[in-house]
Amino acid sequence: MKNFRPIFLFFAIAVQVNAQTSDKLALTPPMGWNSWNNFGCDVSEKLIKEMTDAMVNSGMSTAGYNYVVIDDCWQVGRDSAGNILADPNRFPSGMKALADYVHSKGLKFGVYSCAGSLTCQERPGSRGYQFQDARQYAAWGVDYLKYDWCYDEGQNAKAAYKTMSDALKATGRPIVFSICEWGESKPWEWATGIGNLWRTTADIRNYYNAELNWGGLGIVNIIDKQVDLWSYAGPGHWNDPDMLEVGNKGLTHDENITHFSMWAMLAAPLMAGNDLRNMPDEVKSILTNKDVIAIDQDSLGLQAIKFIDLGDHEVWVRFLKNDELAFCFLNRSEIPWKEKYDWQRQSIYHEDKSARFTKTEYSVYDVWAQKNLSSTNTPTELNIPAHGVMMVRLSKIH
Ligand code: GLA
Repeated sequence: MKNFRPIFLFFAIAVQVNAQTSDKLALTPPMGWNSWNNFGCDVSEKLIKEMTDAMVNSGMSTAGYNYVVIDDCWQVGRDSAGNILADPNRFPSGMKALADYVHSKGLKFGVYSCAGSLTCQERPGSRGYQFQDARQYAAWGVDYLKYDWCYDEGQNAKAAYKTMSDALKATGRPIVFSICEWGESKPWEWATGIGNLWRTTADIRNYYNAELNWGGLGIVNIIDKQVDLWSYAGPGHWNDPDMLEVGNKGLTHDENITHFSMWAMLAAPLMAGNDLRNMPDEVKSILTNKDVIAIDQDSLGLQAIKFIDLGDHEVWVRFLKNDELAFCFLNRSEIPWKEKYDWQRQSIYHEDKSARFTKTEYSVYDVWAQKNLSSTNTPTELNIPAHGVMMVRLSKIH
């Protein structure tokens, strides 16, 4: 009995350290790049190294993007001891060497697996190997795990994700845990403390407005599914409306701006999904807009609410630190939205926050034009293209 107490104490301390580690992860929405949206199964060590270099050389890393994540198809089997094996033809130097390369550029390294016995592309999943896989990822130096839900074989989602969450925490390595269960069992209701982000919908596709027969969704279709989820997001636990399609063909320039703006309003993870090696300047200027990223990364972590819904025209509001606010005017119609928006018309009350423009004057800064407009004492001129937005940041004038 004499030895029992110290062992128990050690265990209690170890659990506490792990809990603290995971609580400190993703205090703002994760930012990075993921291979899936543009490259699908065509992943290799060459591609990942080139993308790592491009992340640094393009200015993306300076803008805040730091996770380089390989999605499905890097894995081909298990050895006789059950260890997961990377494709030796596509990753000849092995995953540890690749993680070291990404780390040597000051970035973080992520991989993908699945709670089922197979991944969505029918590679080996982690079911039955959760703790062994987690230990392997930690040994490689993995910093981020995206964990999918194909071939779930009737498992309970919360239990399946908690098992991998526990396995990651048991390694002692801080690994951001990205739950990719497509919102089917409402993970926002159970996943805080289990994962750092959770997908809220089926897969994004590079369309403005589309619901594909297999479930794929366009940008506005995903936005519509986020409206009621604002209360679940916060530091360390984010709603994930899926990775970015900015820069992948299919969206116009204005639609790319709408996509990026609304993801920032939603406090969404910003995982670029395009080819960073040869980005046109207009794409780079969207992905690296520091004022929009600052709204996404605001430390309060409050997701935007839909404040006004007039069908074709919507106004979204996000409360920011220091009593600042972000407004996004979303024009869903096929024709420009021209109006003088009178700030004095409505006050906003939301939870313990409020903004009363009749009492307090705010400066109005256009984050895309990157210029100050007149204050909230005068109406703001909206002239928003079809499928476009106007996004502004408001600060109190003292
Ligand atoms: C699912 C996920 C996608 C991607 C693919 C890979 O569809 O939702 O984001 O990871 O699997 O097969």
